[in-house]
Amino acid sequence: MLSRLSSLSSRSLATSACSIRPPSTESKAPNFIEREKKFGAHNYKPVPVVIDRGEGVHVWDVDGKQYLDFLSAYSAVNQGHCHPRLLKVIQEQAKRVTLTSRAFYNSSLGEYEEFITSLFKYDKVLPMNTGVEACESAVKLARRWGYDVKGIPKNEAKIVFAEDNFWGRTIAAVSASTDPESYGGFGPFVPGFETVPYNNLSALEKAISDPKVAAFMVEPIQGEAGVVVPDAGYLKSVRELCTKYNVLFIADEVQTGLARTGKMLCVDHDAVRPDIVTLGKALSGGTYPISAVLADDEIMLTIKPGQHGSTYGGNPLACKIATEALNIIVEEKLAENSAKQGERLMSKLRTLPKEVVTTVRGRGLLSAIVINPNVDAWQVCLRLKENGLLAKNTHGDIIRFAPPLVITDEQVDQAFEIIQKTLFSFV
Ligand SMILES: Cc1ncc(COP(=O)(O)O)c(C=O)c1O
Repeated sequence: MLSRLSSLSSRSLATSACSIRPPSTESKAPNFIEREKKFGAHNYKPVPVVIDRGEGVHVWDVDGKQYLDFLSAYSAVNQGHCHPRLLKVIQEQAKRVTLTSRAFYNSSLGEYEEFITSLFKYDKVLPMNTGVEACESAVKLARRWGYDVKGIPKNEAKIVFAEDNFWGRTIAAVSASTDPESYGGFGPFVPGFETVPYNNLSALEKAISDPKVAAFMVEPIQGEAGVVVPDAGYLKSVRELCTKYNVLFIADEVQTGLARTGKMLCVDHDAVRPDIVTLGKALSGGTYPISAVLADDEIMLTIKPGQHGSTYGGNPLACKIATEALNIIVEEKLAENSAKQGERLMSKLRTLPKEVVTTVRGRGLLSAIVINPNVDAWQVCLRLKENGLLAKNTHGDIIRFAPPLVITDEQVDQAFEIIQKTLFSFV
């Protein structure tokens, strides 16, 4: 890993020297932005930068300006942009066969299934594509287990979620949401969903003591809510309560998993084993939509042939990519680097002026700063961009910092200089 990190940093330094835009050149960005606005749905409000290329922790815009990527496509690019090992397996497998559907067997799926289940120590994996599909599949599995194993009366199963959860944008996901931005105007909603405050064990116990509850689904750290870290011991108690009431503990590790927080899974910090784990995002290192649900036979085998599936789920290309993406995380010791660099970054962030940054929180390289209400966080992101670092605010006043996990000491220091300089300009 060290050799890759040092070669990345020397490559990026070399490129940065020749990436300064001559002042006279007109930016190409407005054309790209206008085109998206004209022909695309307006369901996002992107930072006005048009990315054209990426490598490691860096991306370059259409004018050739280099940035440190401090979002990593919402933690999908943990392995760094365009990781050469991923490019290689994509090329190799794309030449053989990419999609077979699950109407037939393929020569990559079993090998991947054996690999991922032995890595995470679950009996079975259910391969899907996006994070929201993995979470939706977990909810379906939980309902099915609730009827077939727990004995909940037909169509009466309940699933409990934490308030401020985020697991995507489908009707089921927004039905579980407590954010009016997410669910407003999209009803009617999926029945049988309840919410309890995050990090509140007595509310959880009250909710799941209902014998109709099949599962509690929770993010070990709430990412989209603004990198909200629960109290120490919360996840251990969640495990104990779920066991006590025979309720499945579903850990949504789509954002927190795969080394993002300094361990392979975020629940590993608490040494707990959920009944179901959902993975996505970095399972492909940002190259392809790949997600997975992990569970043991008692749960997974409640769903029989024809009762769930996806045309692309478990396709040979995805299997090869996911295997390589996981191998990179293990072999390049990205969890260890995330823990180390996360500590380095957060200790620096804690020195930022209180007039601008009221709170710093996070774990590993999933961190966030809360901006003083007098300062507009969107304006901070725009100025960070001007200064060469890309980040995006969430819920108005919170800016998440989640760079690729291949980041070096030197790059963390460089990023902090940009963050510090930018924030001081608001004092
Ligand atoms: C915790 C969590 N779960 C699920 C999802 C949904 O993933 P996707 O956007 O790939 O559907 C997200 C996306 O940000 C997420 O953060």
